[in-house]
Amino acid sequence: MQKAVPFTFCFLLLQLLVNIQALTSPQDISALKAFKAAIKPNSIPPWSCLGSWDFSSDPCALPRRSHFLCAVTCSPDSSRIIQITLDAASYSGQLTPLISQLTQLTTLDLSDNNFFGPVPSSISSLSNLQTLSLRSNWFSGPVPASLTWLKSLEFLDLSHNSLTGTLPNTMNALSSLSRLDLSYNKLTGSIPKLPSNLLELAMKSNSLSGYIPKPSFDGLTRLEVIELGENSFTGTLESWFFLLPSIQQVDLANNSLTRVEISKPINGNSDLVAVDLGFNKIEGNVPVNFTDYPQLSSLSLRYNRLRGAIPLEYSKKKSLRRLFLDGNFLIGKPPAGFFAGSEVVSGSFGDNCLKGCPGKSQLCTPSQKPYAICKQAYGGKGKPRS
Ligand SMILES: *[C@@H]1O[C@H](CO)[C@@H](O)[C@H](O)[C@H]1NC(C)=O
Ligand SMILES: *[C@@H]1O[C@H](CO)[C@@H](O)[C@H](O)[C@H]1NC(C)=O
Repeated sequence: MQKAVPFTFCFLLLQLLVNIQALTSPQDISALKAFKAAIKPNSIPPWSCLGSWDFSSDPCALPRRSHFLCAVTCSPDSSRIIQITLDAASYSGQLTPLISQLTQLTTLDLSDNNFFGPVPSSISSLSNLQTLSLRSNWFSGPVPASLTWLKSLEFLDLSHNSLTGTLPNTMNALSSLSRLDLSYNKLTGSIPKLPSNLLELAMKSNSLSGYIPKPSFDGLTRLEVIELGENSFTGTLESWFFLLPSIQQVDLANNSLTRVEISKPINGNSDLVAVDLGFNKIEGNVPVNFTDYPQLSSLSLRYNRLRGAIPLEYSKKKSLRRLFLDGNFLIGKPPAGFFAGSEVVSGSFGDNCLKGCPGKSQLCTPSQKPYAICKQAYGGKGKPRS
């Protein structure tokens, strides 16, 4: 008992001295050392942020005169690393699994470098992470399922890498996620159930396949932007899709969709502005119901297998500014409204089977398909005439 008081006092004093001298926690320092050590020294320019990481001084010590000049942000008490935002300096190397020791990290941004190898599954230990961007590197292997444990993650950008495999089916566990970009990778398989707070979903230019499943999008009431172009989606795009309550922009170009069902918006309300369904295999007539979406300003259905006439309603739709219907098998005479006075709609009706498309209108270029192709498309009935 008698010794306990001075001992406690000494211990506290020691703690205080330690806190003043060594600011950054040892676990964070060793993680930063491992982070730098996993990057090829000859890819670290002397003038770069990583070039200034010199562990002879404390990473969080202020002022920073020569060491740790950039890329790291420390907590207000200088004890923990809370952000790593690397400069784009063509750093080449792997992301060390020891990154998991930086448990107070809220931002990890390594975009526009030459990191390669797997995204370490230990990243799941970064439970405070809000922003993760590994955009434009050479990361390969799968999107680790453990990534979906990151409950605080709001922004995830893994685009422009070489990721393969299917998406984790626990994706919807990312309950804070509002922006997801997995575009320009080599991902396969179908779309799993998506996180319900998403505002933007981008998975453009992968090899995703299957139909666009309703259960994956159920409850996504905030979703505004969907970019799923340049994949291998097939089947029918069902009517629920354009009825997603916040939907504004849709890119599903360059897939293999064969049908679209479009209902009128509920109570006439919709923020849908732009739709690109070009370069699919969509059959049937040009969907008239699109004209009931009050804000729709840009619509592409180019290079599909559409038939029949261009609906008169399209020429009366005031909000429409861009309309691409080229590369189909449309017949008849395009509505005169498109060519009356100053043409407010740009786009193309070319490469169809139309007749009487005024050659002087920019909408009528390129020219229509040869008669023989149109005749064959309509079963050789001699209709349409060119
Ligand atoms: C779709 O594919 C076509 C033909 O391969 C290509 O010309 C076009 O740029 C692509 N469009 C988009 C939006 O990816
Ligand atoms: C247009 O929308 C209505 C009402 O939502 C629906 O009943 C109808 O089938 C749709 N028409 C087409 C051609 O899809």
